[in-house]
Amino acid sequence: MFEDKLLFNQSANRYPDEGYREQVEIELLLEGLYRVYGYDFRDYAFPSLRRRIWHQVYKEQLTSISELQGRLLYDRKASERLVETLSIPVTEMFRDPLMFKKLREKVLPELKDMPMIRVWHAGCSTGEEVYSMAILLEEEGLFEKTRLYATDMNIASLQQAREGICSLEKMKQYTMNYLEAGGKHSFSEYYKVTNDGMVVFDPRLRKNMIFSDHHLATDKSFNEFQLIFCRNVMIYFNDTLRDRVHQLIYDSLAPDGVLVLGSKESIHYTAFRSRYEEVDYNERIYRKIR
Ligand SMILES: C[S@@+](CC[C@H](N)C(=O)[O-])C[C@H]1O[C@@H](n2cnc3c(N)ncnc32)[C@H](O)[C@@H]1O
Repeated sequence: MFEDKLLFNQSANRYPDEGYREQVEIELLLEGLYRVYGYDFRDYAFPSLRRRIWHQVYKEQLTSISELQGRLLYDRKASERLVETLSIPVTEMFRDPLMFKKLREKVLPELKDMPMIRVWHAGCSTGEEVYSMAILLEEEGLFEKTRLYATDMNIASLQQAREGICSLEKMKQYTMNYLEAGGKHSFSEYYKVTNDGMVVFDPRLRKNMIFSDHHLATDKSFNEFQLIFCRNVMIYFNDTLRDRVHQLIYDSLAPDGVLVLGSKESIHYTAFRSRYEEVDYNERIYRKIR
């Protein structure tokens, strides 16, 4: 990719400006991260990627992107710290509560007669979304026949998701979200407080969850699903990567399968818009129709 840009620059006979050099440094850093550790951020949207890389340069007490590249090529821990910064593992329980309410009202009733339900949380981060879904399925009597596949590229986030832990101070907000999502019980029934200011979710919720490392930029589909969540993940991608992931999702959805995107995302500006119908416009819930 960057070879073209170098040639272009030479043929224009221009002395490369600082912005151009910085772009080359970023591309080389991302190439190294991909070739040595397999993390592919090469098709992420450039402005936020650039901001986060500089943030990491200062955090590592370095002065240039090239120095960061030198460090991470030989230091796995440094590469993991960069992946943590670039992957933005922000999430919450019942995030966008009305979306979960609409799922409860409009989508789950249609799954009642299915012998088995498979759900994929692509980019599950630390797991709050998949635990929210398990609670919803449990309350609608569908949990036992559902398998929840939760994947992410960030190994540290996945480990936290597997353990089902999060901090106690978030529970007030999460309880409000749960109630707004139409929660039928007391939210505190689903977790226990530990001695160190954390909560651990009821292990019963984990029973039907499968956690796995999966890279949306490079890995293939691995099953067919009735429901796929890919929320707040593709907003960080450029158009090329977004198209790839939409293709992957489309190929992974069963006929009439449902896709849920994040509140700032939409199917409308993608090549797949005619392949889905809206189940709920405001909550970004779509059904595969062809
Ligand atoms: C902002 S979080 C969203 C979490 C959750 N879906 C939600 O909406 O609350 C984005 C997650 O996507 C993951 N992610 C980003 N790029 C990815 C990729 N190429 N493959 C797999 N996961 C990716 C990140 O590691 C991060 O955990």
